[in-house]
Amino acid sequence: MSSTRSKLIELLSANETTYISGQLLSDELNISRSAIWKHMNELKKDGYEIEGKANRGYRIISYPDKISENTISWGLDTEWLGKKIVHKDSVPSTQRVAHELALNGAKHGTIVIADEQTEGKGRMDKDFHSKKEQGIWMSMILRPDILPYLAPQLTLLTATVLANVIERHTKIKPQIKWPNDVLIDGKKVSGILTEMQAEQDKIVYIVVGIGININQQQADFPQELQKRVTSLSMVTEKKWDIVPFIQALCQTFEQKYNQFIHHGFNPVKIDWENYGFRMNERLQITTKKEQWEGLFIGISEDGALLAKKDSGIIERIYSAEISWFQEE
Ligand code: BTN
Repeated sequence: MSSTRSKLIELLSANETTYISGQLLSDELNISRSAIWKHMNELKKDGYEIEGKANRGYRIISYPDKISENTISWGLDTEWLGKKIVHKDSVPSTQRVAHELALNGAKHGTIVIADEQTEGKGRMDKDFHSKKEQGIWMSMILRPDILPYLAPQLTLLTATVLANVIERHTKIKPQIKWPNDVLIDGKKVSGILTEMQAEQDKIVYIVVGIGININQQQADFPQELQKRVTSLSMVTEKKWDIVPFIQALCQTFEQKYNQFIHHGFNPVKIDWENYGFRMNERLQITTKKEQWEGLFIGISEDGALLAKKDSGIIERIYSAEISWFQEE
């Protein structure tokens, strides 16, 4: 987008409720009033609804539901998250872009978002299906002043944020499958990938990648995934506007992150357990060494799954294959 145009949108966005005169815009942007008029027409063609009144000026009424730095910024009520937004039409993976930016000094709270990822990355080196304009594919750069071993808590926090925003928008209560897949009706609607760069006892940066399936229909997913995944559109039978969702995510994330930094993990644990998938049910745990059954009673301070053995001993599970009984 031309810098004049983005400055124009910025000026209009800063004055959502009042009109801004053509003269003022022309002075600020150092272009003629007829050039302003031409830019306004271009914006309208792109789906911006702009009201122009004689003797008063211009006012933006609504933005197109197309992801861009401007559409996300407009009305985004955060203090530090998303103050810098990098939007790309298509990238291999927003994680990759975020790592490059972070290594070059990008600020805490920078977000990278793309319409499409061609090599979307999931946990354990799996692919993550992220087709054009069908969902939210976003990575956040964070520089928390916490010890590296606490970083997994941020992944659990992110899962609670996703569950919370999905529930508020759709009125459907999702569940979080340990450690951090968000499910609706037992099918995955959203995933999180957290990657960290740390030195000894200090986090240099963390990239939290979020993928949410929003407007796909079943046939949009590869055949092999169709039984295991879903989208907000599939469960609600409506098409969702993506931009307000991104804004709600950022606002809720910032609020919960601030709470976590100031008050620790306990509020996150409570939230997580409220959404916990098949909590208080028996599960089977398979590690390289052994296989045993237990009762899933919650998560620990460090994000481990807590399983109670029949002997009454509570074990912390950090990495294992978990299966529940009567699972499909
Ligand atoms: C998982 O469920 O295994 C994690 C999925 C994480 C996907 C997101 S989409 C945005 C960011 N970019 C990526 O390549 N992956 C994460």
